[in-house]
Amino acid sequence: MADAQPAPLRDHAWPAGAVLQNPASLSDTKLFGFSVISPLRYPGAKRQLVPVIETLIAGNIPPPKLLVEPFCGGATTTLRLLGSGAVEHGILADVDPLVAAFWQTAAFDSAWLVTAMRELTITVAEWDRWRATEPSTARDRALKCLFLNRTTFSGILHGQAGPIGGRAQESDYKIDCRFGFDGLERRIKGIADLAATGRLLDVWECDWRESLTRVGDRYGELEEDEIIFYFDPPYVEKAPFLYDWSFKSDEHTQLAKALKELTYRWLLSYDDTASVRELYGPSHDQAVLHVSHRYTAAGSEKRTVRDELLVTNLKTIPESDRYRMIVDGDDSANDEPRL
Ligand SMILES: C[S@@+](CC[C@H](N)C(=O)[O-])C[C@H]1O[C@@H](n2cnc3c(N)ncnc32)[C@H](O)[C@@H]1O
Repeated sequence: MADAQPAPLRDHAWPAGAVLQNPASLSDTKLFGFSVISPLRYPGAKRQLVPVIETLIAGNIPPPKLLVEPFCGGATTTLRLLGSGAVEHGILADVDPLVAAFWQTAAFDSAWLVTAMRELTITVAEWDRWRATEPSTARDRALKCLFLNRTTFSGILHGQAGPIGGRAQESDYKIDCRFGFDGLERRIKGIADLAATGRLLDVWECDWRESLTRVGDRYGELEEDEIIFYFDPPYVEKAPFLYDWSFKSDEHTQLAKALKELTYRWLLSYDDTASVRELYGPSHDQAVLHVSHRYTAAGSEKRTVRDELLVTNLKTIPESDRYRMIVDGDDSANDEPRL
């Protein structure tokens, strides 16, 4: 049998009705088997949580048709779930104009982005220039996002973080050490493939509250349980150093309140801190899971344990050794599915 033709690239978002169509086949299926798919290195990226989220989604019926990620950042979760087919369609949103422009351009203007990326010069002088520019077009915001993300310590786009390797470039790791053009081109084309095949439907530059409103307005023909949200808000403690758009403390409370009233299915992840545990106690309509995983922090050789909380209103919590359900403030073995 002849190979399927790749879907033609798209230059604009899909109309809302397209969510009901089945996505076409992906061209680069191998890419979506890799653990890193996102072209962005993102502080707080939730790579290790993806299998947990996938288990939870698979354990609940009906399978969702549309996944919406209102704090998408590096978008690891949505990209992986769309690539694996765990969810058919997805929408990315972020309030940061650089981040939103990057995803819009990668999805719907990828040929331009790949060509412009290949023309970049990766030096400290260029880093200073990009830091100082205020791009007026989405294309240039996308390029600024990619350049700074791949050349700044820990992928931080804004604030105090300096170029990888320091201003004097005396470190073994120079400013271009994370800028592999071929790998980035393949990942950008992967995003365009997700969009061309009807998986990634749209990218929104907006506040999380606006994402909730838009989904209701534009995807009202879907049943509420065909839509699932994944929220990964800024950290409670470190966020002001990492993102330009961090939360003021009452925004964490506002989000918790909005989720109590949300009639769609949702998952939420946070670092495990006392203040988050206070905001999200277990209740009859929401489960709190403790997830612990090992990772290697940027710039360190040491493996560190990271504790996260996953809160959800999904009805069934399948048994898994990847997490433990928290009951009344204590972590307990999740030997009973919550029905
Ligand atoms: C923890 S990061 C998300 C990381 C992402 N899950 C990943 O895997 O890379 C939080 C993101 O929320 C965005 N953000 C902050 N305030 C927001 C708001 N009010 N509405 C929407 N996005 C916001 C930040 O720009 C940042 O990209």
